[in-house]
Amino acid sequence: MNLPNMKEAKIRTNNKVEHINLENNIPNSFEGKKYFLRTYGCQMNVHDSEQIRKYLEEFGFTVTEELTEADIVVLNTCAIRENAHDKVFGFLGRCKHLKREKPELIIAIGGCMSQEESVANEIKTKHSYVDIVFGTHNIHELPNMILEANKKLNINVYSYEGNVYENVKYSRDSKITAWVNIMYGCDKFCTYCIVPFTRGKQRSRKMENILDEVRELKALGYQEVTLLGQNVNAYGKDLDESYDFSTLLENVAKIGIPRVRFVTSHPWDFTDEMISLIAKYENIMPYVHLPLQSGSDRILKLMGRRYTKKEYLTLFNKIKEKIPNVAVTTDIIVGFPNETEEDFLETLDIVNKCRYDSAFTFIYSPREGTPASKIKDEITYSEKESRLQRLNEVINKYSLENNYKYVGKIEKVLLLGKSEKDNSKLYGYTETMKLVNVITNKDNIGKIIAVKITDAKSFSLDGKAI
Ligand code: 5AD
Ligand code: SF4
Repeated sequence: MNLPNMKEAKIRTNNKVEHINLENNIPNSFEGKKYFLRTYGCQMNVHDSEQIRKYLEEFGFTVTEELTEADIVVLNTCAIRENAHDKVFGFLGRCKHLKREKPELIIAIGGCMSQEESVANEIKTKHSYVDIVFGTHNIHELPNMILEANKKLNINVYSYEGNVYENVKYSRDSKITAWVNIMYGCDKFCTYCIVPFTRGKQRSRKMENILDEVRELKALGYQEVTLLGQNVNAYGKDLDESYDFSTLLENVAKIGIPRVRFVTSHPWDFTDEMISLIAKYENIMPYVHLPLQSGSDRILKLMGRRYTKKEYLTLFNKIKEKIPNVAVTTDIIVGFPNETEEDFLETLDIVNKCRYDSAFTFIYSPREGTPASKIKDEITYSEKESRLQRLNEVINKYSLENNYKYVGKIEKVLLLGKSEKDNSKLYGYTETMKLVNVITNKDNIGKIIAVKITDAKSFSLDGKAI
């Protein structure tokens, strides 16, 4: 994929990845000013925004939820599906108006969308009131770009993967649960997916640095860490080291933080050793997100997923058998180009066999530059919508069925805060990642407590502290 910063790109394409310690010398030059930060997309983006926020706060900016009050607006964008693009450009329209009234307003766009050549071009030609476009590989350069802002549009996006940066500081959303990046990028190149282009090839952090971060989080009192990567099971394969994800997971578990989770797993790289570890360690949570994408072998092959329906089922059954009370969730795409009714029925069939705890379901969205986007598609959008609806009905039925199994049981719940729907309750998660609204004392925020489950809905449970 060609990107705007071609001068640098030419010199450094296919760079050898270096592991570099960042220095953080940010002047307090925006004291009294306000920032508005909006994040679209996946957990990776949510965590990147914690790094962006740290920079903004070190500059002296304080947060505002009111766009009109902002002195800087940062949009951390997502490119995984088309609608993400429309949302961002819709929002940019509001920023444009605001900048007319307040010319010193700084507008910055980062995240996966800014890695797309067509988007950078669109900003250059139609939205030159934007000040900064930064990419997913150079978030650490945002502070300098902010210092130089308001002169002219500054697009600084690497077309190569960038390095692995250590000593990254975060302003974390929570004091209870924390994300920990273990790797960046993805080498799987599923044919529909833009991530390998926007986030680059796989680069793992060194294990000792990850363990240091987890130790630090434990010392700060964190109750839970989630190891984060596009395909965590492939962790370490790009390093000249003898360790792999199982080694890392076991070492993280041994640090003794109460809860350890990881997302996302590609079925192809899921090893028996990982299953044994999840079963063995009490603090590795019995929850696996195992994206299926499709139940049809023909579509799986076209998607480049590297497994068949039968192989997926074998792995799924092994996970269910070996890990007591495990919950498994998934991602499914309907309407991949030329998906037939028979292909779709194969997806419904595997869903009926796996009876997932829950699933994220999507209509296929063609992404420019991906191999699948070049396939001429004969299926109408309304047919795709109808398949999504049929799929969701089945998924929701099993979610509810699985949730009902919890009623009457006692579950360990990590309480995170006040319940959004009912302020008199707290919300938290079971070990299996079920959302629970709990009647309990407010002082229990941040604690893992025993909860008796009293009722179940498709997307949450109700419970009472005991
Ligand atoms: N269209 C629709 N869904 C997609 N996903 C990834 N790329 C696309 C696309 N082009 C879904 C996959 C993935 C999840 C994060 O997003 O299901 O697992
Ligand atoms: Fe995309 Fe496939 Fe990588 Fe997941 S494993 S990020 S779907 S290319």
